[in-house]
Amino acid sequence: MAKLAVIVGSVRRDRQGIKVARWIERKLQGRNHIVYFIDPVKLELPLLDRMYKEMSDPPEKIRDLRNMISDAEGYIPVTPEYNHSTSSAMKNTLDYFLEEYYFKPSAIVSYSPGIFGGVNAAQQLRLIFAELGAPAIPSSFVVPRVHEAFAENGDLIDDAYNKRIIKFFEEFEWYVEALKNQRAKGVPY
Ligand SMILES: Cc1cc2nc3c(=O)[nH]c(=O)nc-3n(C[C@H](O)[C@H](O)[C@H](O)COP(=O)(O)O)c2cc1C
Repeated sequence: MAKLAVIVGSVRRDRQGIKVARWIERKLQGRNHIVYFIDPVKLELPLLDRMYKEMSDPPEKIRDLRNMISDAEGYIPVTPEYNHSTSSAMKNTLDYFLEEYYFKPSAIVSYSPGIFGGVNAAQQLRLIFAELGAPAIPSSFVVPRVHEAFAENGDLIDDAYNKRIIKFFEEFEWYVEALKNQRAKGVPY
């Protein structure tokens, strides 16, 4: 059991990503994890003015967000691909914090309507998470043809995903536990 933050990367009104993120949440809960579901729409997160640590009196919703990011033992960003990169919404959410991520792993999920499943966005996000101090595990999980993988109500259509996701989660859980054990011995800074 671990505490894991799922981070939604789209704020578009008819976003596909919410179906992927909710499915990931359900699957993690099914593996007995506690999930912090971070949705920039629900948070009505403004474009970054000050980072959390620069705020003298952070609004309650940003304090709650900080507690989730800080308490999480690993991160699963669910990113769309916009112009071969991650979304501004994802980057904006991530940029509020820094030290909160340190020495914890991330595992990247990407999706797109085409056949590549947002792989370009995943690669860009890998660089961002490296800089945040939460390096991404070697595997990433791509969802090509996202419109065909999920029904409009969010139900998974393609059952193959239920099998394919297991290996990804097992790899992530290994890193979550490994870094948790190592953090307990202390961190270099
Ligand atoms: C600004 C913008 C740029 C996009 N660029 C790409 C792209 O580079 N590659 C791609 O596969 N799809 C691209 N798309 C299509 C999105 O992957 C598709 O709209 C997807 O549903 C976006 O996720 P969302 O619905 O959760 O926001 C783009 C969409 C938008 C709105």
